[in-house]
Amino acid sequence: MQIQEIKAEDLNVEEFINQKVQEISSIVGEELAINALSGGVDSSVVTMLGHKALGARLKTYFVDNGIMREGEPEKIVSLFKELGVNVELFDGKKEFFDAFKGITDPEEKREAVTQTFYKDIFGKLVGESSAKYLFQGTILTDVDETVAGIKRQHNVFEQLGIDPQETFGYKIIEPLIQLRKPAVRMLAKALGLPEEIYERPPFPGPALAARVIGEITPERIETVRKATKITEEELCQTGAFQYLAILHKDRVTGMRDGKRDFGLQIEIRCWDSTDARTASPTRLPHETLEKLAGRIITEVPGVVSVTYNITQKPPSTIEAV
Ligand code: XMP
Repeated sequence: MQIQEIKAEDLNVEEFINQKVQEISSIVGEELAINALSGGVDSSVVTMLGHKALGARLKTYFVDNGIMREGEPEKIVSLFKELGVNVELFDGKKEFFDAFKGITDPEEKREAVTQTFYKDIFGKLVGESSAKYLFQGTILTDVDETVAGIKRQHNVFEQLGIDPQETFGYKIIEPLIQLRKPAVRMLAKALGLPEEIYERPPFPGPALAARVIGEITPERIETVRKATKITEEELCQTGAFQYLAILHKDRVTGMRDGKRDFGLQIEIRCWDSTDARTASPTRLPHETLEKLAGRIITEVPGVVSVTYNITQKPPSTIEAV
């Protein structure tokens, strides 16, 4: 079925919120529902809409999959607590790292994230709670790229002919499926979410797993996590759409203390874009790049090379995996 896009310039925020709250209430009725919050702007908006419609009949989980950014799980849980929304933290680290063992192919990685999240973890959580529905923040851009066969976004099912009820045992509700990022940000602001959420750069569902080329292990995630923290600190004032650090699989020869150091490579990407469908590398000042590289090679153990990607999307994509 063709999804009817609602463009940001055509969005009537109040009307959309009221309509979705009504729709959600009438679909869920007196049943229970479960909500998957990642802290990104999409799932944060869905969380606010869902709780507006269902109150305590919606249970919200944040799954700590071991591949989030530093301190993110605790930060998001406490931010929503301040907004009056109780979020339960679920420790799924073991499930995810077990699923990643031995996998290097990008689509297999994405499939491992999907299966672990929707089947193993939410299959169990929804089943135990007797809920019938899972809420998630899929937007139109996720659907477009998946259907075009470019990249299987972790959260797209029906458009690929997958029935979540049959496959995972619950129905999925996607209130934002007609929107793209700019429209979602307008809703986030109207729903009272703080600026750090509604202005948050996008972050992929497969999290740091989308930024590790080669096998995903706790150690390699820790390397990219440290590089990500520095990259976000150094580039957050640039006004760019998204900025990220990628850990490469190949090592290169560097030198440290006068000796060969066959070390790790980090690639930086920083994008100008409005909706992630096309993007251009930001023309960062050389001083900014040098400072960033300097911090990464001194603060992230094992890294001897930092590069900056200057390719357009397309043919590049925003993430590496
Ligand atoms: P790409 O890498 O396809 O990314 O150019 C386009 C936008 O989508 C984000 N992204 C994802 N978001 N699940 C998501 O929710 C995913 O599997 C996923 N993969 C990429 C990416 O960060 C960018 O903003």
